[in-house]
Amino acid sequence: MTQLQDLVHQAESEFSAISQPAELENAKARYLGKSGVITGLMKELAQLPPEAKRERGAAINLAKQGIEQALQRRRDSMAEAELHARLAAQAIDVTLPGRGQQGGGLHPVVRSWMRIESIFRSIGFDVADGPEIEDDWTNFTALNSPQNHPARSMQDTFYVDVQDARGQPLLLRTHTSPMQVRYARAHVKRYAGADMPDIKVIAPGRTYRVDSDATHSPMFHQFEGLWIGENVSLADLKGTYTEFLHTFFERDDITLRFRPSYFPFTEPSAEIDMMFDSGPLQGRWLEISGAGQVHPNVVRNFGLDPERHIGFAFGSGIERLTMLRYGVGDLRQFYVGDLRFLEQFNSD
Ligand code: PHE
Repeated sequence: MTQLQDLVHQAESEFSAISQPAELENAKARYLGKSGVITGLMKELAQLPPEAKRERGAAINLAKQGIEQALQRRRDSMAEAELHARLAAQAIDVTLPGRGQQGGGLHPVVRSWMRIESIFRSIGFDVADGPEIEDDWTNFTALNSPQNHPARSMQDTFYVDVQDARGQPLLLRTHTSPMQVRYARAHVKRYAGADMPDIKVIAPGRTYRVDSDATHSPMFHQFEGLWIGENVSLADLKGTYTEFLHTFFERDDITLRFRPSYFPFTEPSAEIDMMFDSGPLQGRWLEISGAGQVHPNVVRNFGLDPERHIGFAFGSGIERLTMLRYGVGDLRQFYVGDLRFLEQFNSD
């Protein structure tokens, strides 16, 4: 073996013993660098006669290429080893069991909301919704509660720091009753001049009051009912509401009571109380809804003639009905997000 072949082998074994890239670069310099072995041999060429110079030069070049290739092979294998190490460090254990997927469920209040909609649809009511941020006129004034009227203090209100076109602050609606006004006015406009069918609608949704205890939450749900026609009476209210309760609770042994009350937007007004005739709540009157015959001033604000159009409205709390249907004792349970509570409603 020639001296040059020895040199190549020596470089190869030196390179392959190295495992750090920086060390490899130092080793490279010892062979191929400015004062490296190969460079030194090249310099010696100058002293040879032309014939020998060419031969020797070609041999040195060959050795140089051999060393360069050995260097490249080592660089490649080091890069590959590093890649493998990185991949191994990031490995995913595919034999681990998966985390699984939790099925979602409907909130009990939403379940009631959907039941209420489908029951009222089945007896010919439309379903409407509208803004939760309401203007003062629609929430109060149009419903016969003028500015500074003491009846306004029945509902403690959240105001928004924005004024409407009349210069009144906007507010979070305190009840769904403003939907009576919105729906009725749109209905009257739509049938202007033509034969107007009855206004027959429910409007479920969120409502807000400054109120918080075991039976009141600052955000709660109501559904408004409104039926206006030329011959709609409180007997229709009684029939409609009785039918609704029987269907909602899936039982007929329920007694209703209409207890005289006061609302600015109805006259006469009533609280609807109900009583189960059997079961754990047997014999207890439970207040579930405000109701009454729509006040002539409100009918006028609908854009209708109260001498001709008459009817009833009611507004019921959805939480309240849900608590009675499922036997929930504290309304706040609905809003603390405790899955142990909520999961109980996922299977009907
Ligand atoms: N808006 C009333 C309330 O929230 C309920 C109600 C609605 C009463 C419709 C009469 C008629 O207390």
